[in-house]
Amino acid sequence: MTKSLNITWHEATIKREDRQKLNNHLSNVIWFTGLSGSGKSTIANFVERKLHEIGVRSYVLDGDNIRFGLNKDLGFSDEDRKENIRRIGEVAKLFVDSGQMVLTAFISPFLEDRDNVRKLFDQGDFIEVYVKCPLNECENRDPKGLYKKARNGEIREFTGISSPYEEPLNPEIVIETDQYSIEECADKVIAYLIEKGRIKGGL
Ligand code: ADX
Repeated sequence: MTKSLNITWHEATIKREDRQKLNNHLSNVIWFTGLSGSGKSTIANFVERKLHEIGVRSYVLDGDNIRFGLNKDLGFSDEDRKENIRRIGEVAKLFVDSGQMVLTAFISPFLEDRDNVRKLFDQGDFIEVYVKCPLNECENRDPKGLYKKARNGEIREFTGISSPYEEPLNPEIVIETDQYSIEECADKVIAYLIEKGRIKGGL
């Protein structure tokens, strides 16, 4: 629901197609979802490096980082996570309109919230990547020591421990970070982009 009344949509002079043409590639969102410690940010940044090397204009939106600024008013209740993902969906849409390839790394634990973001985009513009990694492996990695704190009861509503994670039903890509190297996982994403004609091949 829009709160503001008396607002009018203003058409841009330069369109997304013009920007894509200038960039010489299409724009879309690559939406990484998965447990904390599953490798979302690592893979997103690795994919971005590869894209950058071939001249693709890109940007990574990362859960932890966004919570330092734009979303610093949000916590980890179901309601706040929903708002977190809604805002990022809208920000991602702006990036796509700007002609860039945007990569997002948010747990985004709820199916409905991810589907609502998907609905903001045209077919093919939203690429959901399930970063699949068993909870016990994420917990073993525990890069930020948060699982330990969650188990001790120092952090409440922690995803996988005391807050749910709903697996994607039909993601465009599944990468298993406990089975394959970072490079192999990133290559799978790049291969998909080439196959779908989002970027040119020849890497
Ligand atoms: S989301 O659920 O709203 O999508 P988001 O990706 O923005 O989460 O932030 C997750 C990151 O915040 C985790 O990687 C972790 O570093 C940190 N974090 C702190 N508290 C929690 C919590 N209760 N549950 C999950 N992640 C948490």
